[in-house]
This record gives sequence, C-alpha cells and structure tokens, in this order.
Amino acid sequence: MSEEDVQLEARLEEQAVFEPPESFVEQANISDEGIYDEFEENWPACWEQAADLLDWEDSYDQVLDDSNPPFYEWFTGGSLNASANCVDRHLDERGDEAAIEWVGEPVEEDNVTYTYEELHREVNEFAAALREQGVGEDDVVTMYMPMIPQLPIAMLACARIGAPHSVVFAGFSADALATRMNAADSEYLVTCDGYYRRGDPLDHLEKANEGLEGVDHEVQTVAVAERLLDGDGFDHDYADNQVAFDELSAAHEGESVEPVSRDAEDMLFLMYTSGTTGEPKGVKHTTGGYLSYAAWTSQAVLDIKPDDTYFCSADIGWITGHSYIIYGPLALGTTTMMYEGTPDYPDKDRLWQIIEDYEATQLYTAPTAIRAFMKWGEEYPDSHDLSSLRLLGTVGEPINPRAWKWYYKHIGDESCPVVDTWWQTETGGMMLTTLPGVGDMKPGSAGPPLPGLSADIVDVSGSPVEAGKAGYLVVNKPWPGMLRTLYKNDERFIDEYWREYSDIDSDDPEDWVYFPEDGAKIDQDGYITVLGRVDDVLNVSGHRLGTMEIESAIVGVEGVAEAAVVGGNHEIKGEAVYAYVITEDGADEDEELRERIIEAVEDAIGPIARPEQVIFTPELPKTRSGKIMRRLLEDIANGEELGDTSTLRNPDVVSDIATKVRGD
Ligand code: WTA
Repeated sequence: MSEEDVQLEARLEEQAVFEPPESFVEQANISDEGIYDEFEENWPACWEQAADLLDWEDSYDQVLDDSNPPFYEWFTGGSLNASANCVDRHLDERGDEAAIEWVGEPVEEDNVTYTYEELHREVNEFAAALREQGVGEDDVVTMYMPMIPQLPIAMLACARIGAPHSVVFAGFSADALATRMNAADSEYLVTCDGYYRRGDPLDHLEKANEGLEGVDHEVQTVAVAERLLDGDGFDHDYADNQVAFDELSAAHEGESVEPVSRDAEDMLFLMYTSGTTGEPKGVKHTTGGYLSYAAWTSQAVLDIKPDDTYFCSADIGWITGHSYIIYGPLALGTTTMMYEGTPDYPDKDRLWQIIEDYEATQLYTAPTAIRAFMKWGEEYPDSHDLSSLRLLGTVGEPINPRAWKWYYKHIGDESCPVVDTWWQTETGGMMLTTLPGVGDMKPGSAGPPLPGLSADIVDVSGSPVEAGKAGYLVVNKPWPGMLRTLYKNDERFIDEYWREYSDIDSDDPEDWVYFPEDGAKIDQDGYITVLGRVDDVLNVSGHRLGTMEIESAIVGVEGVAEAAVVGGNHEIKGEAVYAYVITEDGADEDEELRERIIEAVEDAIGPIARPEQVIFTPELPKTRSGKIMRRLLEDIANGEELGDTSTLRNPDVVSDIATKVRGD
C-alpha cells in the first residue's frame, strides 16, 4: 500500500457518516428531501406517484381501502396487466433497446441480448403455449429454473394471461419443489434440462422429475427449457406430459396474446419463504400494489433510468430477483442484466468483468458476496474499469461497516452512494434505506423508513425503546407492496405478522402493526440498524432458512432421536447451520451417521442448508419446562462466554457440549 492508501484507509476507518456524492445528487431521480414531508402530509394519496409509473387500463377509485385491516387493498377498482407494463408499453420508444442482457456461464459464446421487441415476441409465444396447455386465469404455474432467460419469459407469459407464478429456487431440493407444488395445488411446471455450474453441466431435470413424484395431484404439463449444449445433455425420456419449451413456443410462432386485464388486487405471484414452523409460507403479492411499489422503489432507491444498464446479481428464485431484476427495472423500461453461474468462475473477477463489458451503471448485491470479494482481495476489482458504476446497493442481511467501506472504496471508488436496503419477501420491496441522492449514509445502518412508511423499535409490550437500545422492529402503516395474505391461510397471516403487536379485535387501522420478526435499534437521527431475525429463522448467505424445516429433516434420519438447529457466526455466510443431534440408543455416533444427516438436509431443502457442523450430544440444554435453550447452543457455536445456566434442568450438559464443539 502506498502512503496515500494508508491515509485513505485510516480516514475511511474513522468516518461514520458519508454524504451522497455531489456528482450523483446532480442527476438523481430524487434529490429533494422534501419528499419525506410531502409523503407524510399527503398519505396515502402520495402513493399515486407510484401508481402513476404504470399504465392502467381502468384507473383506480381509491388509493387505499383500509376498512378491513390487516386485509388492506390498494388502488381498488383499477385494472392493469403486468406483462403489458413491463414489455408492451416500451415497444414504441424502446423496442430496439435491450430489455434483458443475459450473460451465460462461459461455456461457449453464450450471451444473449433480448430487446424489448424480442422479449415481447418470446413472451407472447410462450403465453399462447401456456394457454393451449390449459393454463387459465388464476392457475398457479410453478417454475423451477436457474438463471436462464426462459425464466423471466415464463414469468411474464404467466402475468400476461393472469396465471400467478410460483418460482422455486433451482438450488432447492426435489422435496422442496414437491412441497411447494402441493401447497399451491399447482398443475403446471416450467423447468429445464440442466445448467452449468463452474463449467460443468448439472442435471436439473432429474431433480425436477424426482420432485414431481412427490406431487399429490395430477400435473398437466411440464415444459422443459433445454439449456445444455449438444453433447452435454443427460439421458431423459420425456413423459407424456413433458415437452420442450422451444417446441411449445415454436408451435405458436408470431402469435400474439392480448394481455388479460387484471384487477389491481389480483394475485401476480406467490413466493414461498421460510417461517417459524416447518411449513413454508406462501406469500401472496398482487398486480397493482406490488408492481407500483417495485417500480417506485427501483426509481427512488436504485435511481434507475431507461438508459441504464442495471445489474442485480441475485437469483430470480428469491424475492430480490423478482422485484429488482424483473418487475421493477422492466416496468421502468431499462436494461436489466441476468447472469448465470457464480462470482468466482472462471475467475474471482466474474462480476467485475461483466460490469466492465456491459458498462453497468448500478450494482445491487448481498453482503455475503461483498465479504467474499474482500477475502479474495482488491486486485480483482482493481484490474477492471468499473467507472460506469453510479450506485451500489446491498440487501439480504446486515452489512458490517468494514465490508460497507470496502464496497464503497474498492467498487464505488468513493463516488457511488451505497444503499443498504432492508426488506423482506413479505414487504415486496425496499422499506428501510437512505434515498441515495438525499440522505447521508451511515455504514452498518440501513437508514430511515422510505417516504410514506412508518417504523418503530419497540419492546415486548409494544412501547418504543430509547435510541441506541435493541428492540423489535415494527411497521405502523400499510404500504402498496405488502403481502396481502399467506396463500389460502388468512389465519396464519394474522398469527405470523400481526397478532404480536396489534389489537386484532379492532377494525381501526391505527391498532394494526406489522411485525417482520427482526430485532433492531434506532439512533438519534432515526436511522435504523437491523440486527437480525428474532424467530427461528437463519440467514445463511442472505438466504432465509427455517430451523424447524432443517430439524424435521434430521429427526427423519434413522438413528436420530432429537435435534436442535441454530445459527453460528460465519465469516462469509454470515450465519452457518449448526446441528446438535441426540442419537437413539444403540446408534453409532460415527461419520456414516453424520453423512446421512447432511444428506437428509440436502434432500429436504437443498445444499444451501447443509450443516456446517453436526454435533452429537447425549442431551440438549433444556429449561425445567422442557424448552430447548437455543441461545446457549448459539453461544457454544460462536465460542462465546456462556450465560446463566442455573435455570436449566440439566446444567452440566452445556459444558460437555462446549467441550465437544471447541475440542478443549
Ligand atoms: C434480513 C430479502 C439487515 C432480515 C429481501 C429480513 C436484512 C430477511 C437486510 C428477509 C438488511 C434483509 N439489513 N437485514 N439490509 N435485508 N435482511 O425474505 O432479517 O429473503 O427479515 O428477503 O433478511 O429475507 P428475505
């Protein structure tokens, strides 16, 4: 490091507040801090600004119907179509411009540009094919696909005919696919033959087929996108209900499908996410509110403009990809990028190469990725021209100030604002973050609620806690992008998100408070630092995993009597899965059992849930009432000082386990 670098490093280390760079402010979509007051004074009518970003077939009568909380309705009476908004309406002005830049794993010349014109054609053909296969309005179509262009094409085709999609992350297991198809009664699946990972072809259809065996109802059609190049394919005979994606589309070449007029409150998609119990939650998002909110936040926070080449490195299998690779950016008519593969193949500069090649203007990624980049070293980004970047964003988990500053300096060259955006599958879009052209940034703190939102940090009784003290994050007012319910389970919707802090017998919206199940603290300036989940959900590499789901996979293994799963700190992943296991009498606590346990977790959920450690223990620390003390298990995993164990029924077990884990 040069003398100059050392000084810079020292200055950054100490700096706690960063102003938005002047060059950014000058061109920002929003640069007037008056927007906060404007939204507050004019609430909920302020949200018309979001709705105005879309084309409506019938304009809405009412911005918010809050007569039956927490079943809020937005833009009631309005109708629109999401695919028309994301594709058709850009044809006149931007038909020849790129809608999607797809960067494939570099197995061959594998990049494809889809102009709006081309995307329109593909979406229409596949929409016609889906219809012919019998997909009707409101039929849920499941997608089990990696980052290949047929995924957004299929999503938009569904949106066109009013069929909600339910995208299942390709890294999830066959069982996870079956569970989600069963929960949604989904009779249609779009999947693919395989894809490339670190240069090797993976057999995805095998996993899909295995999942289909677990589906408890008839599946009408399985469309198979053929991604693998000749010679890389795996041997599969298509069943009678299986047909190649391209064949389906080719049979409808050049056809156009009139976009179905959808009520603002009609479901656009379902997304299953992990919760406290073993059953994944089917989060329901709507056409009008969700799309308005995705578009508005894309414009306000990501500063997207039509001429941008915007790059979000998430996977479309998660909510970030839905809102901020597909729906938000395409609603605004920009160019959105999609890449297949991993950030370290063919080398650890994959993202930087992509940014340089495409002159990307924004990068939206996850703290887990930034921690990996830091570890790999700045020589990777330093050897590329990243000067096209104007804004950086993060999402998915808390970012520590060191990683924030590294990102700001080595990727943004100190001239891009960094937006640390807190939100959830359930919120549809961003909730807490600074506006990049308005607010000062404080590394480690997401920032204030967006204009039009209201959040507090409260104690268990719901009273606001003092600045600086940890408490629970709550959201006090509804917003357009909010989930409407859990699919076919209104009761669980209330139990999971509202019961804790609301007067659930009241029909006054003031008495209803949304609880995201995160802990947080707030500072004197109203900046919120989100500390992490307070329910039994882990955040592994920015992915939400339910401990109950993992535990139930483990107790299904022969020889296992009981299991407790907790999160332990991990340098790159943020949290890692630690599994404490009690075996049945006579079962050997050996490598073979450990492997069967790991395999069971991978089969039930996927490799992302793979336990970092499996710890055999004769007992679990329990309170006198028989509750497992997870907190202690976490302390053990993290090598921390162990708290008070006197309330335990079996205090001795704690030090025994700690000895095992630490090997001391
Ligand atoms: C966590 C991802 C701190 C949080 C969009 C939340 C964050 C969960 C942040 C939702 C952030 C997300 N700072 N924590 N900027 N963003 N989280 O549903 O615990 O996959 O509840 O949605 O991720 O994860 P989900």
